[in-house]
Amino acid sequence: MPKSARDILLVEDDAAIATVIIAALEDEGFAITHCASIAERDRLLAEGSFGVMLTDVILEDGDGLASLARVREQAPDLPVIVLSAQNTLDTAVRASESEAFEYFPKPFDLDELVHAVRQAWAQSAKLASDDPEKPGEGEGETARMPLVGRSPAMQTVYRMITRVLRNDLTVLITGESGTGKELVAEAIHELGSRRTGPFVAVNTAAIPADLVESELFGHEKGAFTGAIAQAIGKFEQAHGGTLFLDEIGDMPPEAQTRLLRALQSGRIRRVGGRQEIAVNVRIVAATNRDLAPMIAAGTFREDLFYRLNVVPIELPPLRERREDIGALAQHFLVLAAEDGLPRRHLTPEAIARLEQRSWRGNVRELRNVVYRLALMAREERIDVETLTDIIGEEVVTATGGQRMVEEGFGPALAAWLASETPPSGTLYHRALAAFEKPLIEHALGRTGGNQLRAAELLGINRNTLRKRIGELGLEPDRFSQTS
Ligand SMILES: Nc1ncnc2c1ncn2[C@@H]1O[C@H](COP(=O)(O)OP(=O)(O)OP(=O)(O)O)[C@@H](O)[C@H]1O
Ligand SMILES: [Mg+2]
Repeated sequence: MPKSARDILLVEDDAAIATVIIAALEDEGFAITHCASIAERDRLLAEGSFGVMLTDVILEDGDGLASLARVREQAPDLPVIVLSAQNTLDTAVRASESEAFEYFPKPFDLDELVHAVRQAWAQSAKLASDDPEKPGEGEGETARMPLVGRSPAMQTVYRMITRVLRNDLTVLITGESGTGKELVAEAIHELGSRRTGPFVAVNTAAIPADLVESELFGHEKGAFTGAIAQAIGKFEQAHGGTLFLDEIGDMPPEAQTRLLRALQSGRIRRVGGRQEIAVNVRIVAATNRDLAPMIAAGTFREDLFYRLNVVPIELPPLRERREDIGALAQHFLVLAAEDGLPRRHLTPEAIARLEQRSWRGNVRELRNVVYRLALMAREERIDVETLTDIIGEEVVTATGGQRMVEEGFGPALAAWLASETPPSGTLYHRALAAFEKPLIEHALGRTGGNQLRAAELLGINRNTLRKRIGELGLEPDRFSQTS
């Protein structure tokens, strides 16, 4: 059967999905040839030429992505659109490494798919004679993917990640504390074309304001009091690799200006130095602050924001992707076991219970909770009862929290007084401790256990904080960011 120029090959073993796609594309005037296996696909490709191929990943006789090399041999210019229900970062990355024209995690928007087919069609017509060079098979890249979660919200993140792997565009990652911003920055480096270069992270919030510039750009001997020797800054250290500027919202104004200049010129000058040094770095920045009001208030430079925000990646809070909680919890149980804690497993009911919590501390809080469970649970199986024994019921529900916001701490105090009968003469200190403990835990959680930053956040003296941590029996290490 001779193929017309508008022929499309659809490799999909789910009959229902195939029917929907065929109907939508036929409406657009395309002619569709449909098959459900890799063997049939190869036979059809040998027989005739197609303008675009759409393929599922898991097929009855193999992996539609892994076998794409064979398709490339027969039809090097054929644009391939990948459809997949395997919604992992791994699939997204493999699709992008196979040079797929587009990748659509299921369920996908039919209109978007039709649009992509039209674009692929146009490219295929134009590229007929052009043969871009292709990198080797991406088979070796599928080791262990750092990011867990298959929710639709994470699909958007994965697609954005795959779009920046083969270029050096500046990325700005935003999202609440503990949502995985640093992990995404690492993934971009590890999976991207700069993976053989260094990955250098700078946490702006953890450096005293007057040392930020020297930290970033280095300094010459004698540049300021205490500069006893020349020092190389993070920019120079990251040469050829990726520079991760964490907590960018906390950068002092002068450092912002110098950073902007460095980004514009691709050159830096060490503090106290004369000569400009060219640096080749890919910038990934992150912040858990909302930069818009800071720009409005003049504390964050608008021009710097536009320089950084070339590719924005927004990480969703955990409460907006509850379907990922189970997979994340299992993942952390495995990590905990690798870290030497006993191997435990959660019953489906216990996971359902975890899914209901509010997770203000996002994935970091979930990770800490799971480690605590692995440490404390006496039996291999963690059921709802063990779970509540160890981590308790959540005190403030979403609606209770709203009431607190409206009515202040009064109702919460009344509830606490009703449940406590402290000996006379201790009431004030006990109430204070009951209030202070979650507050300090919150501050430590937000700063990853960094006491200096927690003290700044709270607006109290660092020594006072350290003393209270001891008195309240808190363990700052529990909040530490070592992932
Ligand atoms: N999708 C994920 N899959 C697996 N682990 C994750 C995921 N997201 C976050 N984590 C883990 O959760 C912890 C917190 O993540 P990370 O440090 O990247 O958060 P962050 O957004 O940078 O937070 P902060 O704003 O407080 O710096 C880390 O231990 C990280 O490994
Ligand atoms: Mg971080």
